[in-house]
Amino acid sequence: MKRNTNKAKKILEDGGLVIFPTETVYGIGCNATNLQAIKRLYKIKKRPANNPLICHFSDINYIKKNFKLNKIAYQLADKFWPGPLTIILKKKEDTKIHPMLSNNTKFVGCRIPKHPLAQKLLKKLNFPIAAPSANISNKLSSTNTSHLKDFFDENIYILDGGKSFYGLESTVVDIRNNKIKILRLGSITFEQIKMLIPNVVISHNYSKLSPGQKQKHYSPNLPLRINVNSVLEGEALLNFGKNNLKSKTKELNLSLTENLEEASNNFYDYLHKLDNTKSIGIAVAPIPNKNLGKTINDRLFRASSN
Ligand code: TXA
Ligand code: MG
Repeated sequence: MKRNTNKAKKILEDGGLVIFPTETVYGIGCNATNLQAIKRLYKIKKRPANNPLICHFSDINYIKKNFKLNKIAYQLADKFWPGPLTIILKKKEDTKIHPMLSNNTKFVGCRIPKHPLAQKLLKKLNFPIAAPSANISNKLSSTNTSHLKDFFDENIYILDGGKSFYGLESTVVDIRNNKIKILRLGSITFEQIKMLIPNVVISHNYSKLSPGQKQKHYSPNLPLRINVNSVLEGEALLNFGKNNLKSKTKELNLSLTENLEEASNNFYDYLHKLDNTKSIGIAVAPIPNKNLGKTINDRLFRASSN
């Protein structure tokens, strides 16, 4: 296993790209203050330039120096950082974080990852890491290093941190004007945030505030049918819990005991596996629309839409 954070540090300092683990999904990162590196990252990921990148920090001190934090920001940071929450914050004037990574706006998605290897790397750097999920734009995210092998043409150094703990991306929130909106559901649930800040809402105006949230996204190569009550001839099955659904091709069960944490953890891995079978498509069993099930359904909906 490659776990050499000194090598990764050197590559990032020289303007290169590194794939690194986080507790949500793997990220492909670069120096957030280096324009050339950011351009390279957009290119290799085939990502539209208007879709901003999340900045990853080792701790809140750098964030406090470079961004304006309101009351909600502090409440969320206290509760969920380090961890799978991305808060969109307004930059101060004198920051070195390059405007290209936020589509030339002052609003940057900020996150402090909890994964020990990501932390170890970030602590060695004197700049934040700009990083989207390590996959080609609109394709499945990667939750272990075996998922990465088909994605990138170039050889990129991979820090191997094993299997991601959560398995779904971070929750992205907008907190402008002291109102809180979830722009992307993720590993922190709507219900968890609501316990802390009762007036939280889920934004359905995704594409405007968060261009990455356009519909076709997070998708396997095979067509996906969701909420199925039967499986077609030749379809693989992504199942959940105990039921009468059956596939003659291949079946994987996200969680036999209907545990949504377990299902989240298996989600991308099982989609990658079913996508690599010779099936005509993937049928997906209904998933309860609560807690992490809301996030899973959000991903399934986008992956299945045209
Ligand atoms: O868990 C995660 O969030 C992973 C790990 C690597 O941190 N990263 C990730 O990044 O999923 P990405 O680029 O695949 O998805 C980030 C999402 C996109 O939908 C993007 O549009 C939105 O967050 N986003 C990022 N910065 C934003 C900003 N400044 N304003 C609005 N939306 C933003
Ligand atoms: Mg992504």
